[in-house]
Amino acid sequence: MLNIKVIVGSTRQGRFSEKVLPWVTAELDKNEDISYEVLDLRDWDLPFYNEPMSPATVKNGDYPNEVVRKLAVKINEADTFLVIAPEYNHGYSAVLKNAFDSVYSEWNRKAIGFVSYGSVGGGRAVEQLRQVAVELQMAPIRNAVHIQSPWNLLDDSGHLKEGALDSYTHSLGSVIDQLRWWGIALKEARNK
Ligand SMILES: Cc1cc2nc3c(=O)[nH]c(=O)nc-3n(C[C@H](O)[C@H](O)[C@H](O)COP(=O)(O)O)c2cc1C
Repeated sequence: MLNIKVIVGSTRQGRFSEKVLPWVTAELDKNEDISYEVLDLRDWDLPFYNEPMSPATVKNGDYPNEVVRKLAVKINEADTFLVIAPEYNHGYSAVLKNAFDSVYSEWNRKAIGFVSYGSVGGGRAVEQLRQVAVELQMAPIRNAVHIQSPWNLLDDSGHLKEGALDSYTHSLGSVIDQLRWWGIALKEARNK
């Protein structure tokens, strides 16, 4: 089984990420060879990173902060990551970057893909996240889901309109396929 952690990369009230999440997990559910777990950053009371030493120097998950240590266990379990990533001011969200900055070796040598959204489908955030991922020794996959103008997909009560994400399902399938390929390849390589 390939272990995917789905990271919910925004925490604000009314976030679009939690509207996308059930659609993402429903697609993952269709894959019998994949087990996944949702890591919602809202549930993680991570400190804003302020340690004297870089996480890259930490061995065996021995981070000074208890919440970070617990997060490191979860990141360590993963073979690949699928990140639900908003675009804030032409970049990625601060909570996401803080999570990336907080641990190091547990991210290494694993594939990562993105589901993003915004006026240009979150394209600017995803390109920047790929740069961050490379520094964390990760393998960002080629495809991503880019949901255009997500605010137009909501009804008056803020719920996703019926079938609003249907046109992106094929794209999500490609992301899952690429995560599987890279996830298996890197898992085998890590285990050598
Ligand atoms: C602080 C902030 C900055 C934003 N900047 C951008 C932006 O640069 N580009 C964009 O397409 N959307 C931008 N938006 C709109 C977001 O795409 C939209 O609000 C989206 O729902 C945010 O993700 P979230 O709901 O998961 O927090 C911004 C929203 C916020 C709250």
